[in-house]
Amino acid sequence: MAISSAPGKVYLFGEHAVVYGEPAVPCAIERRARVEVSRREDGKLSVHSDDLTLDGFTVEYGVSPDERPDIDVSESLVTAAMGYVDGAIEQVRDVTGNDDVGFDVTIDSDIPLGAGLGSSAAVVVAAIDAATRELGTTLSTEELADRAYRTEHEVQDGQASRADTFCSATGGAVRVEGEDCRSIEAPDLPIVIGFDGGAGDTGQLVAGVRNLREEYDFAADTVAAIGDVVRNGEEALSAGDLEEIGRLMNFNHGLLSALGVSSRSLDTMVWAARDAGAMGAKLTGAGGGGCIVALDPTPETETALSFTPGCEDAFRAALTEEGVKRIE
Ligand code: MEV
Repeated sequence: MAISSAPGKVYLFGEHAVVYGEPAVPCAIERRARVEVSRREDGKLSVHSDDLTLDGFTVEYGVSPDERPDIDVSESLVTAAMGYVDGAIEQVRDVTGNDDVGFDVTIDSDIPLGAGLGSSAAVVVAAIDAATRELGTTLSTEELADRAYRTEHEVQDGQASRADTFCSATGGAVRVEGEDCRSIEAPDLPIVIGFDGGAGDTGQLVAGVRNLREEYDFAADTVAAIGDVVRNGEEALSAGDLEEIGRLMNFNHGLLSALGVSSRSLDTMVWAARDAGAMGAKLTGAGGGGCIVALDPTPETETALSFTPGCEDAFRAALTEEGVKRIE
């Protein structure tokens, strides 16, 4: 048996635009997916998950999954979640040259699924790390991030950036621009998260932005403008200028909204945070529903969010420098 965990993340700046080669800055947060893996000789894969939104399910299948668990979340979310696990195991088979190996996989995650906090990247990183170690191979962080990226790329129909998976594998604040992924310094950030209890379909949301970008020059300009916001954000981060970081987060949210990836509940939470005095607030991740990230050193934003209709959970999240963690 091998057990690994990996952190979720928030995007300070740059989601969606990063898919088209603009830079992005995600930050790992101390919310983790823990994956336990045991080898099995019959070639089958059994997945059990206890997750904030997937409230416990087990499914067992052969190489081509045809069963689906009977649980109360949307079919597309379950299909996506299982696609990520299948994809991760495919990478493990490929990198270890062990084509027929099967596994019992148990996922225990405190990152809500599809909510913009990088649950899929965390599960994929932790699953690849644990399953390769179960077969006696330990991957470098770079190779792990790369294999996890390939999984997301496949599941998201070739439309994924390296941002989520690199951030989850390495921890800390990172800057990703195309193939160039590095860790960067970030000041102590007073991060508050609001969660509407919902989720977005990353593949669909990314496809929506791609279509807009192909149809309208001004949508392509909006994506490029997000890149400019990120570049300014990097300067504000290295100067430790929280006020400016917040202003740029607000701007970034407006541009994401123009690209159609916000939602009524995300906008409501963003405005509740701003009204409560947050330095800035924006959706995080693919959007469509899920989480917002705000900056506020005072308790005001968390309190306001917890009383905001449509906000199911509000909490603080500390940045973590620890990426993948080898527990056993
Ligand atoms: C999803 O967490 C972030 C997106 O930018 C997609 C990606 O980078 O792969 C929307």
